[in-house]
Amino acid sequence: MELSVLGLGRMGSALAGAFLAAGYDVAVWNRSPRKVAAPAARGAKPLADPADATGLVVTCLSTYDDQRPVLERLPAGTTLVSLTSGTPAEARATAEFASAHGITYVDGVVLAVPQAVGGPSARLLYGGSAAAFAEHREVLETLGAATFLGPDAGLPAVHDLALLGIMWTTMAGYLQALALVGGAGVQPAQFAPFAAGWLDVVTANLPRLADAVASGDHRTEVSTVDLNAAGLAHLVAAVREQGLDDGVPAAVRGLFDRAVARGHGEHGVSSVVEVIKQPQPR
Ligand SMILES: NC(=O)c1ccc[n+]([C@@H]2O[C@H](COP(=O)([O-])OP(=O)(O)OC[C@H]3O[C@@H](n4cnc5c(N)ncnc54)[C@H](OP(=O)(O)O)[C@@H]3O)[C@@H](O)[C@H]2O)c1
Repeated sequence: MELSVLGLGRMGSALAGAFLAAGYDVAVWNRSPRKVAAPAARGAKPLADPADATGLVVTCLSTYDDQRPVLERLPAGTTLVSLTSGTPAEARATAEFASAHGITYVDGVVLAVPQAVGGPSARLLYGGSAAAFAEHREVLETLGAATFLGPDAGLPAVHDLALLGIMWTTMAGYLQALALVGGAGVQPAQFAPFAAGWLDVVTANLPRLADAVASGDHRTEVSTVDLNAAGLAHLVAAVREQGLDDGVPAAVRGLFDRAVARGHGEHGVSSVVEVIKQPQPR
C-alpha cells in the first residue's frame, strides 16, 4: 500500500510517522524541505512536488486556503484524505473542488494532539466518499479509531468545532475558577480535584440534556433556569469584586437572562438551547 503525506508540520509529521511505524510505503512533501529529513531518515521517500504524489494522498496543512494550491497540483484520479482543519463550508467547498477535478474526496478531522496519533486514545472522524473510506479504512485506522459520519464532507468539521467549543468553554471556565479561588488564597493544585469531580457530575447530565434538546420537553424537577440565572449573578458579582475579567461568566449570565426573558425561567437548563438556536437582536 502506497501513501503520500503532503504537509509535514507537527500533525503531518505525526501522521507520516504513524504510517511508517505500521510499515507502509510512505512518500512525503513539505513546502519547507527541511521537515522532510526526519521521515526520510525513517524510510519515507521525499517528493519534489505534490504532483508526484502516488497512492492514497493524505494532506495536513495549516488551513484550507494554504492547501488549495497543493490540491491543484494533484492529478485526476487521485484519492485524497484531507486532515486539514477548518470550517464545514471550507470542507464542502474542497469536496466540490475535488469533484470538479476528478479527485475522490474524504474529509477528516484529528481529535488528538500529534503525540497521541497512532496510539489508543486517538480518534479521527471522516466524511465524504463512503467507497473511498471503506477501501482505505484499514490504513486510516493506523492513525487512530476511524469513524465515518456520512457523505457530507462538512460533517467532520461540524463535529470538530462542536467538540472544541466544549473544550474551550470548559477550559475557560476552569481557568476562571482557578483565578477566583486563587484570589482567596487557594492553590490551583488544591482546587483541581474538586473541579475534576464536578466535571464528572456535569458529564453525567449529558444524556439527559441531549434527550431534552431532542424532544423539546424542558420541564424539570431538578434545577430551573431562574435558579441558575440567580447563581450566575452571584458568580459575576464575585468575579467583579475580585477585579477579575468577567467576560466568560457575564456571557453565560446573559444567555440565561435571555432564556428567562423568553419565558423559560421555570424550565430546565436544557431550554437555554432555544435561545441559542433562535437568537433575537439585543
Ligand atoms: N497540532 C495539533 O495539535 C493539531 C490537532 C488537530 C488538528 N490539527 C490540524 O492539523 C493542521 C496542521 O496543524 P499542525 O499542528 O501540523 O501545524 P504546523 O505545525 O504549524 O504545520 C503547518 C503545516 O502547513 C504547511 N503550510 C502552511 N502554509 C502553507 C502554504 N501556504 N503552502 C504550503 N504549506 C503550508 C506548513 O509548511 P511549512 O513547514 O513549510 O511551514 C506545515 O507543513 C491544522 O489544520 C490543525 O488545525 C492540529
